[in-house]
Amino acid sequence: ARGNALAGRHVLVTAGPTHEPIDPVRYIANRSSGKQGFAIAGALAALGARVTLVAGPVTLPTPMGVTRIDVETAREMAAAVDAALPADAAVMVAAVADWRTEASPEKIKKTGDGAVPALHFTENPDILATLAASPARPRLVIGFAAETEKLIEHATAKRARKRADWIVANDVSVDVMGGERNSVHIVTADGVESWETLPKQAVADRLAARIAQALA
Ligand code: C5P
Repeated sequence: ARGNALAGRHVLVTAGPTHEPIDPVRYIANRSSGKQGFAIAGALAALGARVTLVAGPVTLPTPMGVTRIDVETAREMAAAVDAALPADAAVMVAAVADWRTEASPEKIKKTGDGAVPALHFTENPDILATLAASPARPRLVIGFAAETEKLIEHATAKRARKRADWIVANDVSVDVMGGERNSVHIVTADGVESWETLPKQAVADRLAARIAQALA
């Protein structure tokens, strides 16, 4: 560890996408590399925190000092988050699929006559909102908001709706997905703090330091 500002603290991080199966060979997913969430988990561990990283399907290496739990679907992620409690803070970076569909046990075959299957969607649990409203709510709950327009407005509304303490608003209209840099605004009860565009690792380091400050 590079520091001990978070020694004795348990921080829960979700990262990556979820995959919602359609059949054994197909799924629905959100676009997410997992890079920002993994960097945050590593930065928290470097400050001495015990970190549980609940990761959707990504191919990233586990950051040093981090306990990783791999999941596939939103419901598995929700269960893993629940099982990891209690925590002092939670940073929900995962791009969770909003909907799932009932998976066919067999591969859906093309009929040959141009007929297409219809997917019936069911809403997934909102892991962040559920955690923020739970009796086991961590002291500090942080959500992310990836938006392509009206960034601050949507993030502020999301903060209230999901009862998060902070929302990290992420402008994904410009080359963020899968990239190495990120442009974020921290929306808290006190207002909005805009950070310059930074490498994802630097965003992670700053956020970890801010979390340490808030928990001190
Ligand atoms: O509503 P939206 O998906 O934009 O909210 C994003 C925030 O909520 C992120 O922090 C994400 O990890 C979290 N979230 C969640 N469970 C969901 C949907 C979003 O935890 N089902």
